[in-house]
Amino acid sequence: MFESLERLAPDAIIRLIGEYQQDPRDTKVDLGIGVYRNDQGETPVLDVVKQAERRLVESQSTKSYIGSAGPADFNEAMRDLTFAGSVAKERVVMLQTPGGSGSLSVAAGVVLRARSGATLWASSPTWANHVPLLGGAGLSMKTFEYYDGDSHSLRLEAMLDSLSKIPRGDLVLLHACCHNPTGIDPSEEEWRAIAEVVVERELLPLVDIAYQGFGTDLDTDAFIVRHLAERVPEMIVCNSCSKNFGLYRDRVGALLIVTQDGATREVVQSQANNYVRTIYSMPPDHGAAVVAMILNDNAMRADWHIELGQMRDRLRDMRALLHDALGVTVPERDFSHIVRAWGMFSFLGVSEEQVERLKRDHGVYMVSSSRINIAGITAGNVNHIAESVAAVL
Ligand code: LMR
Repeated sequence: MFESLERLAPDAIIRLIGEYQQDPRDTKVDLGIGVYRNDQGETPVLDVVKQAERRLVESQSTKSYIGSAGPADFNEAMRDLTFAGSVAKERVVMLQTPGGSGSLSVAAGVVLRARSGATLWASSPTWANHVPLLGGAGLSMKTFEYYDGDSHSLRLEAMLDSLSKIPRGDLVLLHACCHNPTGIDPSEEEWRAIAEVVVERELLPLVDIAYQGFGTDLDTDAFIVRHLAERVPEMIVCNSCSKNFGLYRDRVGALLIVTQDGATREVVQSQANNYVRTIYSMPPDHGAAVVAMILNDNAMRADWHIELGQMRDRLRDMRALLHDALGVTVPERDFSHIVRAWGMFSFLGVSEEQVERLKRDHGVYMVSSSRINIAGITAGNVNHIAESVAAVL
C-alpha cells in the first residue's frame, strides 16, 4: 500500500521548532513559529486560564459527548465576541472547531459541498499554511495584491484593483487584524474601501481572525468582520483562541457562517455538523469549556482583558526595542515598518540567504521569508539580534 508514497519535507514553520531545539548555542533566538512569549522567553498558561481550569476540574461532572458543533455556551460567546450584535443571531451557523486550522478546514468542506470547484482569493502573501490547508481541501486558490515588499506597506490601490477583477461570487480571504506574515493591516478607512469592492463584486468574504486582541483591542480588531456583517448577505469567519487565550495545544477555534436567513442557517448548520461527523466527529472540549467559562463570567473576563492587554503591550514594546536597536547597528537602513505593523509578525526584509546565515552563523531563527515573531524578542536578546542582522547585511 504505502510503497507509492514519497517522503515529504516538513512544513517550513514546524521544521524551525526542531532545528531550534537541537541548536546547542545559549545565545540562540527563536523568532520562528507564532506563539506568544514573555520577557523570559516562555509561553506561560494565562493566570485566568489556570483559574478557569481549576474551577472546571471541581465543577465538571461528565466528559460525555456534546455533539459535532461543540458547546452552545462557547459558540454563543464566540459569536458575540466576534460580531457584537452586528448581525441577527438567527442567521449565524456556529461550531466549535479544533483550532483556527480546524475552522478553516471545516469552512472549506462546507463551501465545497455548496459549490464544488469554488475559488478562494488570498492576499499575496498570506499565512504559509493557508494555501496547503485550503487548497489541499479542494478549493481553487488564487491571489490578490496586498503588500509592497520595498516600502513594506499596503498596496491599497493595487489591492482594490485586483479585488475588483475577481469574478462575482468567488470567495475572498481577509485577515481581520495582525496580518500574518506582514503585520501590515488596512486602516478603518482602507477597510471601508475594501468592503465596498467586496459588496459591489458580490464576493463572499472568508475572514480569518486568529489574533483578535493582539492588534489594537478586541473591538477594533474585529472592525472589518462587523462592518462586512452589516453589508453582505453571506460571510464566513474563522476564529482561533490559540493566541488570545494562549490555548495553542488545546485546539480551540470557532467557525461562524453568516447565512441569508434563519431557514438557510438551519440547512447550513446541518451540513456543517454532518461534515464534522464524517471527519473528527466532535471537537475536543477542554479548552472550549475554559474559554466559555471566562467569557461568561464578568470577573474572569475582566482578568482576561488585562492579561491580553499585557501581551499586546509587550509586542508593541518589543517592536520599538528592535527598531531602536537596529537604528544603532544598521543606521543607514529604514526599519520603520517594524513599528508600523500590528500583532505578532513583521518581515525583517532580508534575503533568504541572509536568513540562512542568521540561523547558521548567529543562531537567530526565522521563517525563510524573513518573517519574525516579535514575541521572541527580549531585552536580553535584542542587541544580539540587531548585531546579527548588521553582520549579515
Ligand atoms: C504561525 O504562523 O507561526 C502560527 O500561525 C502557527 C502556525 O501554525 O503556523
